[in-house]
Formats: sequence, structure tokens, C-alpha cells
Amino acid sequence: DIPVICIDGPSASGKGTLAARVAERLGFATLDSGALYRIAGWAAQHHGLDISTANATALAQLARTLPVAFVQDRVFYDGEDITLAIRSSEGSRNASLISAIGPVREALLSFQRDSARLPGLVADGRDMGTVVFPQAVLKVFLTASAEKRAERRYKQLISQGLAANITTLREELETRDARDASRSVAPLRPADDALMLDNSDMDIDTATLQVLSWWAQ
Ligand code: CDP
Repeated sequence: DIPVICIDGPSASGKGTLAARVAERLGFATLDSGALYRIAGWAAQHHGLDISTANATALAQLARTLPVAFVQDRVFYDGEDITLAIRSSEGSRNASLISAIGPVREALLSFQRDSARLPGLVADGRDMGTVVFPQAVLKVFLTASAEKRAERRYKQLISQGLAANITTLREELETRDARDASRSVAPLRPADDALMLDNSDMDIDTATLQVLSWWAQ
């Protein structure tokens, strides 16, 4: 069995950064599952498909055949660089909307499971521990206060040269979390065997060491 570490949690709780740090220390690969939903949402819009359950079949077909390439830290769709576009507020919203459609989630399942390879994988998202890798040895549910999460997302967007407003961001995060938690398919919630980590007042090195020490146990 390939070792998998799952890091799930609400928007901008620091999952991606933590997953990257832990993976680097262990020599593991990473899976940013949120990027897949962001790309699928972008593709739907690009093809003029309304993101609603009425289009579930077409959206799932699109998700199954995304012409996407990951080159270093950039994401290309059919040759077009969409790295920044998928991180915008609109990209976040589209990701959250398309991720509530069951057939889309199923379409993205095998890609996610196939990304597990030796010596191991660190996967981040909403349902890594509950749906995608239920047999994972270590499941972390990473949280932080809405205030801290808005602050971190603000800094992240600004550093990428994107415009941002902290009050709007906080509202968007809370709306998205409420939608992610209340949907009928793979709602955002900790797996029964997840370990809770609140990193509101913790720097990234401390959070990384906590996960590594859980892993070593
Ligand atoms: O970076 P941030 O935490 O804001 O979001 P993300 O991880 O990139 O995920 C974007 C959206 O995709 C989330 O709001 C969820 O609706 C959805 N998602 C999901 O449903 N399942 C996952 N495993 C990952 C993301």
C-alpha cells in the first residue's frame, strides 16, 4: 500500500502550504485536489456551460477529459496558461459550484487516486480522508479562524499580483465554506479518524513539525 497523508479543511486554512512542506520533508508527491475543481470550473465557463445539475452529464464528461498540463508551478489548459485565472474570486466560486455536482466528483476520482505513488503522497482538499483515500494512515483536519484565513488569502493574492479586498475575501470564504459544508455530496467535514489541527496562531514550521511528529508515531 502506498502511504498517503490527507490534509483536509476549510478555504485558505493553509492546506496547500502545509502539504507542500510535509511532502518536501518526506520526499512525497503532492495532490492539490482543489486545483482540479478550479480547472473544471474554469473549463465549464470557457465552454459556455452553465454550472448547474441540469448540465451534470456534460460537466462530468468535460471533467473526465480535461486537456490540462501541469508544468512546474503553472497550469495550462489546451496550451493556455490559467494559473492565475483559477485563483481569482470567480475561479474559487466556480470551483465550489462545480464541486457540488456528484458526477463531476466521480469523474475526478481516478485521477486523484492514480496520483498516489511511492514513496508516498500528501493530498489536500475537502474529502481526501473521507472519500478519496479513506484508508490513509494519517488524516489531518486543518482549521484556522475566518479572520486569519482571510488575512492569509489576502497576502497570497497580493503576492501573486492579484487585486484583493480583505473584507470581501472573508465574506467569500465564509460563503464558500457554508456551501461546501452543506452540499449533499462529500460535504466538508473531518473524517472520524482525523486529527484536528488549528493553526490560527501557529507558524508554518510549527504546523509542519506537528504533522511530521504524528506521521512518525
Ligand atoms: O485554496 P482554497 O482552500 O480556497 O480552495 P481549494 O482547495 O483550491 O478548493 C476550491 C474549491 O474546490 C473548494 O471551495 C471546494 O468547493 C472544492 N473542493 C472540493 O469540493 N473537494 C476537494 N477535494 C477540493 C476542493
